[in-house]
Amino acid sequence: MTDQIQERFYITTPIYYVNGVPHLGHAYTMVATDAFARWHKLMGDDVFFLTGTDEHGLKVAQAAEEQGLSPIDWVDKVSQGFVEAWSKLGIDYDDFIRTTQKRHYETVSAFMQTIYDNGYIYEGPYEGHYCIPCEAYYLESELLEGALCPIHQIEAKVMQESNYFFALSRLTEDLLSWYRDNPNVAIPESKRNEALGFIKGGLEDISITRTSLRWGVPVPWDPAHVFYVWCDALVNYATAIGFGVDQERFERWWPEVHHVLGKDILRFHLVWWPAMCMAAGVAPPKQLIVHGWLLVGGEKMAKSRGNKVDPLELVDSFGLDPVRYYLLRETPFGADGDFSYEGLIQRSNSELSNNYGNLLSRVVAVVVSKLGGVAPSSSRSSAIADEIVSLAKASADAWQRFMGHEAIEHAIEMIRKTNAYLEANEPWKMSASAELEQILGDALEVLRIVSILLYPAIPTTTEVVWSRIGMAGQVCEQRTSIALDWGGYPGGARLVKSEPLFPRLMLD
Ligand code: ME8
Ligand code: MG
Repeated sequence: MTDQIQERFYITTPIYYVNGVPHLGHAYTMVATDAFARWHKLMGDDVFFLTGTDEHGLKVAQAAEEQGLSPIDWVDKVSQGFVEAWSKLGIDYDDFIRTTQKRHYETVSAFMQTIYDNGYIYEGPYEGHYCIPCEAYYLESELLEGALCPIHQIEAKVMQESNYFFALSRLTEDLLSWYRDNPNVAIPESKRNEALGFIKGGLEDISITRTSLRWGVPVPWDPAHVFYVWCDALVNYATAIGFGVDQERFERWWPEVHHVLGKDILRFHLVWWPAMCMAAGVAPPKQLIVHGWLLVGGEKMAKSRGNKVDPLELVDSFGLDPVRYYLLRETPFGADGDFSYEGLIQRSNSELSNNYGNLLSRVVAVVVSKLGGVAPSSSRSSAIADEIVSLAKASADAWQRFMGHEAIEHAIEMIRKTNAYLEANEPWKMSASAELEQILGDALEVLRIVSILLYPAIPTTTEVVWSRIGMAGQVCEQRTSIALDWGGYPGGARLVKSEPLFPRLMLD
């Protein structure tokens, strides 16, 4: 891999409010982003994966008060819960930002001061309907019957304050031409169209500071104000790579940034944030990747609704990789999907146990019984090679487009085809021969390739398969530009039978 030019790939998740423990909705974003980061490492890219917690604002201050804690004691405690959850979910991030960190205060000050100096911020009075869980003002026209927030369906109360405004409306044309010139900047297309709808519907300037609250980053030119939590939060993506502090580092990663987020915060990321970047004289992000909601019984899983599923309990009950697999596999990325225990069990049993696990165990069993346990190598001319290679390419292409469900679907199809190939040839009825070696070598080669393609989704088990088929090193060290080519399985390793890869799951 010496002559390949490394691409920089900076990927982020939203930073979560620390008003409670993480639920499966947060885990959904984390697993997807972790898979994308792992894929890009396999591609040989230089990857930087950022996550963190959003620790200012009214919602967090209120949560602390309800617990009888000072805001800082509360956020220290809750933020740690996120760190622990992500470790249990196998999330391999490079940096965890907390908006209460000194580095973040420095960057927010520098970033917002630049916007101010560039003339995009002015002072004025403000009154509007505010939804606390959203930490956002809504226009009358956006509220549901009874002044209810369209997302949380609770009352958005009237609030009034004097504050500073960001001249978002002045950036309307710049935003439109940016979207026009960069057709893939926001995916899927339906979400890009939603953002364009907001912009074309008319943008209003945004109130970006508060005097009613102390729990925030002080405004450098007027310290009686703190920044509105959303301005503070969005800037985290610039903090982590050193904006205003280490410009060289910032330019190393910016604007190669890919933001993954749920559709609930589409407007902040697809309208406000690019506009803030433009106003600060910084290139807007490279790509915005928007996913749908995980629902329970048809409703968005949310802290404010009491229908949360604990991702760590799921991992304890069903194992890490079945949970990760289900989250990535079940729902087309971008669409909403309903969570169910039955669905998780069904996916794991039918695709992981019966397909992937079964292919491994039957191949190893025949190598042991017919070939004295010595694995044959893959052959150049194989009846299934062309079909497998084209599915592998389709899977790689889908990962590249952030369509994890599709990448997995193609990988599972490779396994189904190979199981069918074994059933048609019945190697377990054959005696040791060149033909038997070829069939088993083909199947081992598929297991090698498919383990690379499934690695972003199920990193733990694919490493187990890798070593059980006698491959040297680890999947995470492979580089897909060569590793996906047919014919890489060396053979010669001694294989042994072991326990099933994925025990069959049941509801208890
Ligand atoms: O909005 N389905 O934080 P938050 C899918 N702090 N994803 C879900 C989900 C669900 N039911 N519930 C939550 C905030 N998520 C701000 C973000 S970023 C600069 C600031 C995921 O704790 C999804 O990624 O409300 C969603 O966008 C995010 O959690 C919202 O997390
Ligand atoms: Mg939320």
